[in-house]
Amino acid sequence: MKVIETANLTKIYGEGEGRVEALAGVSLGVEREEWISIVGPSGSGKSTLMNLLGLLDRPTSGSYVLDGREVSGLKGGEVTRARRDMIGFVFQSYNLLPRESTLKNVELPMVYAGVYGAERKRRAMEALERVGLSNRATHKPPELSGGQKQRVAIARALVNNPAIVLADEPTGNLDTRSGEGILDLFRELKADGTTLIMVTHDMEVAERAERIVEVRDGLIVADDRTNEKVEVAS
Ligand SMILES: Nc1ncnc2c1ncn2[C@@H]1O[C@H](COP(=O)(O)OP(=O)(O)O)[C@@H](O)[C@H]1O
Ligand SMILES: [Mg+2]
Repeated sequence: MKVIETANLTKIYGEGEGRVEALAGVSLGVEREEWISIVGPSGSGKSTLMNLLGLLDRPTSGSYVLDGREVSGLKGGEVTRARRDMIGFVFQSYNLLPRESTLKNVELPMVYAGVYGAERKRRAMEALERVGLSNRATHKPPELSGGQKQRVAIARALVNNPAIVLADEPTGNLDTRSGEGILDLFRELKADGTTLIMVTHDMEVAERAERIVEVRDGLIVADDRTNEKVEVAS
């Protein structure tokens, strides 16, 4: 069973003069533990697709089966729970709370998950260790470099042990070297069995994945395997 299976997903924003068909019928199947890049020109619908896959937004029509369950019609609390149990989301602009410590930022998804006290702190520290930032636990985001901020955001995405990590242009604001650090982390996640979907503008970055899906005008126009075998480090 695929971990993600969408059929004819559409998303229409606005109406009348302002109507935009951001997705025009996307059918995408994702295998467990697969690493996929999504590429395509600006405005082609990549973020819209990621937001639907991440349950941050709902489709206008079509079906989305996540881990064997139809989720396109779920309501409020059910959506929140499905997202919390299955998905970690990484944004281009990090979306960290600037006044809270790194540790608090990473703890946040567990607040919503009802994990408390020492256990919450322990798991947040563990996630920070995983991204190599346990020595920045008391720092606040403005005191960190871009690459470090993104690693904190990844720690936050990992803290509830999601089966799927979705990253929308995770290296878009980073220099090449910091971007490499993020891709190294993704390689480790992949080796640990996480399903990864990342959007990128950069073909060199896209080719790190096993499969490249190209979106244009709200449709998938190409879907190719890359030659490069993803090295699974032990
Ligand atoms: N919240 C929104 N309201 C109205 N139009 C939107 C909204 N979000 C995206 N769009 C439009 O939908 C299309 C796809 O946008 P997006 O998914 O952000 O593309 P990409 O991430 O590939 O650059 C664009 O034409 C964009 O202007
Ligand atoms: Mg986008």
